[in-house]
Amino acid sequence: MIPVARFRRFLLLFLLSSPALAVSPDGVVAVSHPAAAAAGARMLAQGGNAIDAAAAVQFALNVVEPQSSGIGGGGFMLIHLTKTGETVIVDSRERAPAAASADMFAPEGMPMPFQQASTSGLSVGVPGTLRGVDTALRRWGTLPLSQALQPAIELAEHGFRVNRFMAEDIANDGGRTQLQPETAAIFRPGGVPLKEGDRLAQPDLARTLKLLAAEGPDAFYRGPMAQAIVEAQQRARSELGPAGAGRMTLADLAQYQVAIRKPLVGHYRGWTLAGMPPPSSGGLTTFQILAMLERFPLGDPAQGYGFGSPKTLNVMIEAMRLAFADRAVWIGDDDAMPVPQVDLLNADYLATRSALIKPDSRMGTPHAGNPRPRDTLSARPQPQSTQQESPHTTHFSIVDRWGNLVSYTSTIEFTWGSGITVPGYGFLLNNELTDFNFVPSGDAAAGNPGANDVAPGKRPRSSMAPTVLFRDGKPVAVYGSPGGSTIINSVLNVTLNLVDHGMSLQQAIDAPRLSVTQAAGRVACEGGAPFMQPRFSIATQDTLRSLGHVGLGELGSDGCQATIGSVQAVAVDPATGSRHGAADPRREGTVIRVKQTENLPEVRR
Ligand code: GLY
Repeated sequence: MIPVARFRRFLLLFLLSSPALAVSPDGVVAVSHPAAAAAGARMLAQGGNAIDAAAAVQFALNVVEPQSSGIGGGGFMLIHLTKTGETVIVDSRERAPAAASADMFAPEGMPMPFQQASTSGLSVGVPGTLRGVDTALRRWGTLPLSQALQPAIELAEHGFRVNRFMAEDIANDGGRTQLQPETAAIFRPGGVPLKEGDRLAQPDLARTLKLLAAEGPDAFYRGPMAQAIVEAQQRARSELGPAGAGRMTLADLAQYQVAIRKPLVGHYRGWTLAGMPPPSSGGLTTFQILAMLERFPLGDPAQGYGFGSPKTLNVMIEAMRLAFADRAVWIGDDDAMPVPQVDLLNADYLATRSALIKPDSRMGTPHAGNPRPRDTLSARPQPQSTQQESPHTTHFSIVDRWGNLVSYTSTIEFTWGSGITVPGYGFLLNNELTDFNFVPSGDAAAGNPGANDVAPGKRPRSSMAPTVLFRDGKPVAVYGSPGGSTIINSVLNVTLNLVDHGMSLQQAIDAPRLSVTQAAGRVACEGGAPFMQPRFSIATQDTLRSLGHVGLGELGSDGCQATIGSVQAVAVDPATGSRHGAADPRREGTVIRVKQTENLPEVRR
């Protein structure tokens, strides 16, 4: 346990010393794009709550960061409600169509090339974002959908300035804005890629959003727009030829439903965390890593630990490798195939896993563990990984004046999703189905349940991890990140920075991150930008190399050049109710504080 005095010091630092500090009893939004942050702030200023603001941010992101998220995708919205103390999750994850099959990405046993599969209609899951946002608004919001859509409509109609990040994503699109003519027409008008400073208006998208404002989400899930979505994924150009045709039907769209879930709860050094349950691995894998690390004094330089020390980084890497070995075998859509969630978080099980970690050495490639003692199989083969990590997806966090919190990660999967824009409607479709195992892994004899194999109606495993951190039962921060499976490690790094290293919220976000997403253990680490402090020194990297860690390049070089995630967070001081936001300089992270009218009642429709 962390001593009380030390905890108080941490809490004080964490709540009060952020350089981007906006201490306030009012509403705060922290978003990866200023125009989308402004959309959320506008809802708060109009008397809306955090859920209303989240809806407006999400729709605005569809316009200004369309490469990351939108109504053609899905996500996980975590909501913490002040009045009841309840935390709920709106799971709007995309689902496989009814005609999906376990071998659809590996006809005749050979996995399709990721690039070809992920730019085809076959990769498109039934989108959930619009249903998810509408459901959240109806249940916990106070403003109508039409009002939440208004800022996005204006941005799409009048245009906005293309920022550096979008320009870079177009320039380095891996062909994704070029294969489909409708996508190229928006982002490469006349064949010329948009560059920073250009103005982008999206009249088709503006019309779509106006239609949704007038008619609601059924206009998306049924009727002419649904027909256009189905045709787009069936007829899109594909390097796979006819094998790349999407399998989604009108019935799949009409039947799409969100799930309202309870969060998974984890504990770390006296703090409590609430995070994502399956179909995301975000909560389970993060909490497993934390539990395995708890026996190491990560915050204590006197014992050779402390931020960025070789010992600290080594045990982090080893815990990540063990947890990702479990993730590969055990975690998928629990509604389709039960995930042994309780067993995976069992303290005795995690103690045996943690015992494999040695502070000064590197283990061989670990197998997934055996969290169910009744099982006798121990060496479980890992599914073949075909996933590529995209830095995209998006995360934002909001608190309103009543203290309601939203932490929302939303995605169309890879940067630019499938690259397929629905003709006439102006939005991109996801390629989320590539989050499934390409080659079916289910093998009873080998003890592999095939947790993340494709099946009709199933949700692909996610890594999205919107998280709320509690102290003494009170929420003190919400945060999350984009970045494919590195999301888990970004959330982990920030948690350790807050709890073990006593950083402020902004320092915890700025600090360089370290990530491993597979048991084999290729290390990615940051250090290339001046704000990423304190650096992982070359001497430290050399120590890790000498232990046998891979991914860091040559001895004596600075191998920490990755960019990992983009964390947006808000914190609340449980004693005073003051709150502040912190945003990530890895993108155009923006914090806006909003003075909400005194004594404003939180009115529901
Ligand atoms: N597609 C990213 C994730 O779901 O984690």
